[in-house]
Amino acid sequence: MDPPAMDPEISTAKSRIAILGAGSVGSAIGLCLILNPVASEVVLVDPNTALRDAQIKDLGDATTYHGAVGGGGVRIRAGTHKDAGQCDIVVAPLTVAPDLTVAPSGESRTDLLGRNLAILKSATNDMKPFREDTVLLIVANPCDVLTYFAQQYSGLPKGQVLGSGTFLDSARLRGILSEKVGVDASSIDAYVLGEHGESQMVAWSCVTIGAVPLDQCLPPNVTLDRKAIAIETKDKAAKIIEAKGATAYGIAALSASICKSILFDQRNVRPISHWVDDLGCCLSLPVVLGRRGIVRSLNMPLIQEEKDLLAKSASTLKEYIAEAK
Ligand code: LAC
Repeated sequence: MDPPAMDPEISTAKSRIAILGAGSVGSAIGLCLILNPVASEVVLVDPNTALRDAQIKDLGDATTYHGAVGGGGVRIRAGTHKDAGQCDIVVAPLTVAPDLTVAPSGESRTDLLGRNLAILKSATNDMKPFREDTVLLIVANPCDVLTYFAQQYSGLPKGQVLGSGTFLDSARLRGILSEKVGVDASSIDAYVLGEHGESQMVAWSCVTIGAVPLDQCLPPNVTLDRKAIAIETKDKAAKIIEAKGATAYGIAALSASICKSILFDQRNVRPISHWVDDLGCCLSLPVVLGRRGIVRSLNMPLIQEEKDLLAKSASTLKEYIAEAK
């Protein structure tokens, strides 16, 4: 049975984040948003109401405990798609149990397209009319293609429809480099660009450690096998999925951090999937994030070889879009 629709008059929530999907990713995002409060209310939406309500009960214990120890209790509640369309941010891992955010072992992220596209279309229609400042964050896969269609279906301005994209891949790359060069990942500026998937590429020419180009600050007798590192980065999710069936915590923590960048209008730079006019698709390039999503995108000084790889990634994504239409 659907919960009563939110009555803005009654709800005291100042800012709200809706999560579409109560599976492993959606509930992990909910937990991240409770333990590191970003919004005053989190609205969980899933057609599987039994799963949704169980997650809310479970997350409710976390928020009660966290609130009880002074963590600033976030309200977690059941909602409908209509409610979601009135939230500041809608995060879409899109789950129809079992969790379809990441392909079960053996399937590619792109294999999920048909199933997730159908869910996205109906969810977007049910969320309309959106608040004019709602930001839609696509977390499900194939992320870049779904981000494109989410913008088409929602009619929201292009800058307000984002995908988690290669932000997670870039975090993975920084983690690997951190191990190899002995520097904390927070001091490593390294970007994976393009598709969150097989055609992604590493902008090696722009990797810096504390503003020093990577090649000029490697520890003595350390050499980096860039090809192997790029493959290890790209394939990390598949290795996790092989062993435990899906990824959840990395993407959840990162989604919550994107919500914080948006809601707090932080203006930080993230590699986020978004519509790129001159490439004719959605893919990840560094953007400045603010309350309305993308404030502006940044033009990385890529070398020709990297520009060619990015163009190749864009053409791969345009093929997927054409196939899905
Ligand atoms: C991953 C999923 C979110 O890379 O695609 O973990």
